[in-house]
Amino acid sequence: MDAILRVEKLSKVFESGFIRRSLVKAVDNVSFELSEGEIVSLVGQSGSGKTTLAKIILRLLEPSSGDVWFMDKNVWKDLKTLDDLKWYWKNVHAIFQNPYASFNPFYKVDRVLNQALKLIGKEPNSEEAKRVIEESLKFVGLGPDEVLGKYPHQLSGGQLQRILIARTWIIKPKLLIADEPVSMLDVSTRGKIIELFDIMRKKYGTTILFVSHDLGISYVISDRIFVMYQGKIIEEGSPDDILLNPTHEYTKELIASVPTLYRKWSF
Ligand SMILES: Nc1ncnc2c1ncn2[C@@H]1O[C@H](COP(=O)(O)OP(=O)(O)OP(=O)(O)O)[C@@H](O)[C@H]1O
Ligand SMILES: [Mg+2]
Repeated sequence: MDAILRVEKLSKVFESGFIRRSLVKAVDNVSFELSEGEIVSLVGQSGSGKTTLAKIILRLLEPSSGDVWFMDKNVWKDLKTLDDLKWYWKNVHAIFQNPYASFNPFYKVDRVLNQALKLIGKEPNSEEAKRVIEESLKFVGLGPDEVLGKYPHQLSGGQLQRILIARTWIIKPKLLIADEPVSMLDVSTRGKIIELFDIMRKKYGTTILFVSHDLGISYVISDRIFVMYQGKIIEEGSPDDILLNPTHEYTKELIASVPTLYRKWSF
């Protein structure tokens, strides 16, 4: 399969400390490729550099060194104009942990779906736009009357996260970066969202980089798992390789920290 994303020797150093300045290598010489239609989980403890890496790929945070290639474009060197960036964010889309942060509390939730329509060049409020919005909500299991015309505070976190998936469904990005998209949700909503990711991959060939703390979910949905530790990808392989035959001490510790119920159930 062709690589859709290529990350080459990527590093990000932050200066930290108020009284004594020190340098933190949040991402440290990371290289990998993602193929079309692959689901890859990026796991690792808090502070290991997962979100920093995701933000650099999304072109939200500039790397200290290294390159990100998406298709044939060098993301930090070739994309310069607003149109270039719009093109990029149409093709590389993100869903974050806290769905509330993606909505403006003063606007009805319909706005994020209308913005998605604009991004793909469709006129909001047209008959076609209405049809696409209804189809997108149906895809995520929401009725239009349940959510349209409401403000974010009138909906649950699970409903808001599903609206954000409806937005992703409208945009149909080539690459979806989901940074802990289910960690705030209850188990059944979590299951549904994971299922939707799988359908998007199968139906539209979406590549998904799934950032997670949860090895259980990563095991179930991924083609490959990357284990990140202190800014480096220290181990990568199939879910069976990583969870049944981990080679790195840190991966073993990470697996040992998964609740026993999971271990009995999936191993
Ligand atoms: N803007 C920043 N300025 C300084 N240091 C930062 C900044 N953002 C992140 N860091 C540091 O970089 C390291 C990696 O942080 P990052 O948020 O990428 O971790 P993470 O793996 O996503 O953690 P979590 O699982 O808690 O979300 C941490 O040590 C963090 O304190
Ligand atoms: Mg994070």
